[in-house]
Amino acid sequence: VTGADRPIGVFDSGVGGLTVVRALVDALPGESILYFGDTARVPYGTKSPASVCRYSREAAAFLMDRGVKLLVVACNTATAHAFAMLREELPIPVVGVIEPAVRAAARMTRNRRIAVIGTPGTIASGVYDLLLRRHVPDARVYAQACPLLVPLVEEGWIGHRATAMVTAEYLQPLRDLDVDVLILGCTHYPLLTPLIADVMGQPVQLVDSGAPVAAEVRRILEARDLLRAGAPRPAHVFTVSDLPLRFRDVGNGFVGDLIDAVEHVHVDGYDRAA
Ligand code: DGL
Repeated sequence: VTGADRPIGVFDSGVGGLTVVRALVDALPGESILYFGDTARVPYGTKSPASVCRYSREAAAFLMDRGVKLLVVACNTATAHAFAMLREELPIPVVGVIEPAVRAAARMTRNRRIAVIGTPGTIASGVYDLLLRRHVPDARVYAQACPLLVPLVEEGWIGHRATAMVTAEYLQPLRDLDVDVLILGCTHYPLLTPLIADVMGQPVQLVDSGAPVAAEVRRILEARDLLRAGAPRPAHVFTVSDLPLRFRDVGNGFVGDLIDAVEHVHVDGYDRAA
């Protein structure tokens, strides 16, 4: 398998990156995806930047070894801590989820008051703040870490009343700030869009990185002549570092039964140089 026929590599700490897979499959139906969910080490959002960099490097090395043509870092926490490193180290194009979301938010805001929610690691990194100020002069940025949302989503508690309560608790402080855009700065959060939209109310537009990331991937593949042409329908491959069955059940809920078999792989200490 060479060139355009190679898969697009996508990784996240768990099921969250599947929200990006959904957008990629919709926008690029000719492409096959090789997904890795680091379910043995989820969550990334409460780990140190050094650990997240190590995990990201191992995930990338694993996907590179399987011959991916482009890497999507479908995790905001990994993008915040490891994107620059991966882009420098890898010989293929690397797409993160933060910059495309920031650009979408910059286009959407009218009053330049923007809220962003994410994991503690993403929010503490200050990356959203930095990039939003670069793209939106005079932006007022309000950031809120939501540490409990990732475990609730991994558990599949998408519409559960406990999740609704926790979501409301986190978003309450953002409600009176007159923001017109809220960035879902964690790829697990689009699963909670109905709950989040409900708490924030009508005038607030939600930014999900999925579609902007897919558009960016298309642009890069086109520019490099790596876009795969139509049929036959490609097979997607899903790999995880632990608990394959729960991943499939929770994951299929929102990627429309795209996941058939889930392969259990070991990336701990994985090194491409080997
Ligand atoms: N989906 C992730 C993110 O976008 C990872 C969350 C986590 O593992 O804490 O940040």
